[in-house]
Amino acid sequence: MDITVIGTGYVGLVSGTCFAEMGHDVTCVDVDEEKVAQLSDGEIPIYEPDLDRYFERARAEDRLRFTTDLAEGIAGSKIVFFALPTPPGEDGSADLSYVLDAAGDVADLLVEADDPEHRIVVNKSTVPVGTGDRVEEAFADRGLDIGGEVDVVSNPEFLREGSAVDDFLKPDRVVIGTESDRAAETMKRLYEPFVRQGNPVLVVDRRSAEMIKYAANSLLATRISFMNEIANVCERVGANVDKVRLGISKDHRIGPHFLYAGIGFGGSCFPKDVQALARKGREKGYDFQILDAVLDVNDQQRRRLAEQVEDYFDGDLDGRRIAVWGLSFKPGTDDTREAPSHVIIDYLLERGADVVGYDPEAIETTKETFGDQIAYADGMYEAVEGAESLLICTEWHEFRRPDLGAVREHLENPLVLDGRNLYDPARMAEMGFEYHSIGRPSYAPETNQEAIEAAIVENGQP
Ligand code: UDX
Repeated sequence: MDITVIGTGYVGLVSGTCFAEMGHDVTCVDVDEEKVAQLSDGEIPIYEPDLDRYFERARAEDRLRFTTDLAEGIAGSKIVFFALPTPPGEDGSADLSYVLDAAGDVADLLVEADDPEHRIVVNKSTVPVGTGDRVEEAFADRGLDIGGEVDVVSNPEFLREGSAVDDFLKPDRVVIGTESDRAAETMKRLYEPFVRQGNPVLVVDRRSAEMIKYAANSLLATRISFMNEIANVCERVGANVDKVRLGISKDHRIGPHFLYAGIGFGGSCFPKDVQALARKGREKGYDFQILDAVLDVNDQQRRRLAEQVEDYFDGDLDGRRIAVWGLSFKPGTDDTREAPSHVIIDYLLERGADVVGYDPEAIETTKETFGDQIAYADGMYEAVEGAESLLICTEWHEFRRPDLGAVREHLENPLVLDGRNLYDPARMAEMGFEYHSIGRPSYAPETNQEAIEAAIVENGQP
């Protein structure tokens, strides 16, 4: 099938590449000339595991092309996907201008081409419920026959950064929102090869499809904020959130996923989608109370390590060197949007701290925000050199098993605040660290130098 993907951001690029991997002819369209030139030269502007492999193969077999010319991009195409940004506008609601402008442009071209072929226009971006109707209007307003010449479908994506390619190729489910049987059949055929392991392609009405995306992300975000509050109470009653998580996750009604306490959720989806759903409720006269609490708890949790280090130094962070490990919002990506680390760094900078950051992938993206306001280390041990505290914000693999003896030696003051529960609190205390994690007991650090040295030798790797 000939497929067009409009928008070569993260979702567009992954979708286009994966459709090409399944043998379709894909043309990706973007207004950004530089980006199109870069992609046409074989350069991928984002970091996403496995994307390069499939991208190179599709390009080598000439099944993946890039252009800035929309007319060329949609010529002969059966399905046109919109994978366009919907950034929050001034009042916080999703700005739909990219999606609606593209719909108008595609509609104009279809009128001009006067081509009787049936087309399916699919919205992949996360858009407020009812956006599909507005896209459809753009086509109807130009005299195109809805159902005859064009069908507008909602097909939300559930891709996680860092495993987006795998999520696309092996989805838990595919959601198709349309009232048109013809469009539903074509979409089912398109997705059949992706769901060979028996996962469903669900066809629902368009508004429900749009709602499914918000409901899924909001429920996941609610689980995280809920577990973060459980962790905060665990600390106060002397319980351990890791054990609590294990205990509740064995209840099949709860299950094991998305129950990890930490320093809050970030990324381009959860904060934005939870906000958008709460706003939609209000707009329709409904006060979605849980979601307001989910966001408040998340704000509180994202500040937590910064407040803890401030308390430890009795409110005086001025000129203190603080190391931050992990700058992306989660491991496996260089994306720092809404990252807890950035909230923490902002807080520390406002109080005059000297921050030194380290991340395996996200140094460049962090520089875009903080520039030379903070220092950047080339490695994790260099970051802690002479620091008075280490704050761990992301659970990258290399942070899970560091040489803690080296960390202890490099730190000027052995304070470690771990936002991702990576180490055993008792062993950290034995090694002489003042170690605090999330929702787990803390132990007084060992002060006997001989015992510390013995623990460092014995426990270099926790
Ligand atoms: C999310 C959704 O999972 C995906 O389906 C949707 O399409 C886009 O948003 P993503 O933002 O890539 O994907 O990240 P995800 O892996 O879901 O993690 C989101 C945030 O929650 C991260 O900050 C992560 O650290 C945090 N998290 C996740 C927790 O704090 N605890 C958990 O148990 C799980």
